[in-house]
Amino acid sequence: MTESGLATLPAVLIVTGTDTDVGKTVVTSAVVATARAAGRRVTAYKPTQTGVAPGEPGDMAEVERLTGAPTVEGVRLRAPMAPRPAARLEDSRLPTLDEHVARVESLVVCHDLVVVEGAGGLLVELTDDGDTLADLALALPGCAVVVVARSALGTLNHTMLTREALSHRGIRQLGIVLGSWPEQPDVIEQTNREHLAALPEGLLGAVPLGAPRLDPETFRTASPGWLPGLEERLGQRLGQRLGTP
Ligand SMILES: Nc1ncnc2c1ncn2[C@@H]1O[C@H](COP(=O)(O)OP(=O)(O)OP(=O)(O)O)[C@@H](O)[C@H]1O
Ligand SMILES: [Mg+2]
Repeated sequence: MTESGLATLPAVLIVTGTDTDVGKTVVTSAVVATARAAGRRVTAYKPTQTGVAPGEPGDMAEVERLTGAPTVEGVRLRAPMAPRPAARLEDSRLPTLDEHVARVESLVVCHDLVVVEGAGGLLVELTDDGDTLADLALALPGCAVVVVARSALGTLNHTMLTREALSHRGIRQLGIVLGSWPEQPDVIEQTNREHLAALPEGLLGAVPLGAPRLDPETFRTASPGWLPGLEERLGQRLGQRLGTP
């Protein structure tokens, strides 16, 4: 922890979600854009991409479109389902946990920040041995996890379950991000946001509804303002590096 009490930013950030379709890819893009705006060399890695045919744009293509950053995909499977059954359908082998770790570590060598986007939620199996994104986080010492959550009714339970699974395993949580925040939130969304912001790790920010439809330039310029909790940590680490107080 730093003097102000904020944990510094690690070299690997893992983006998980309370569910599939909660906005992990959009949040990954906003995290990448925010770090790039702060002058960092950033890349994103998707260990397992499902539901996309060869040659089609997957989640990493969306991150590249929105941010301009380079990205890497681990393995791609055609069926729109969890990686293990999708691999079985194609009779193909999934990369092992060690292979994913080696991939991430090779990216860390030439980037300041590697942002890893999971498939579905935290405990979805990513390998033929049944390793999950939580196992990948445990195999990458020093990494921290960002939890993407919905803003609507039901999100409190899903978010608390995910953070309990993380803390049970001793995995560091950097904070929560709301994947799609409406311009005019109702009382449920507003109170959900207040509840999540009051948790120890707190809210890094919220991506506004409609963000993926912005033109990439606007998305890149606006991203730091959506994630003030991340911006603060980026500023701090840059300050430390430059030797400023
Ligand atoms: N802030 C937002 N405003 C409007 N649409 C959004 C927003 N965030 C996400 N979406 C849309 O919702 C859908 C799901 O979002 P996204 O692909 O980011 O989810 P995901 O959690 O990455 O899903 P997966 O588990 O498939 O990786 C996409 O069509 C995306 O464009
Ligand atoms: Mg995604």
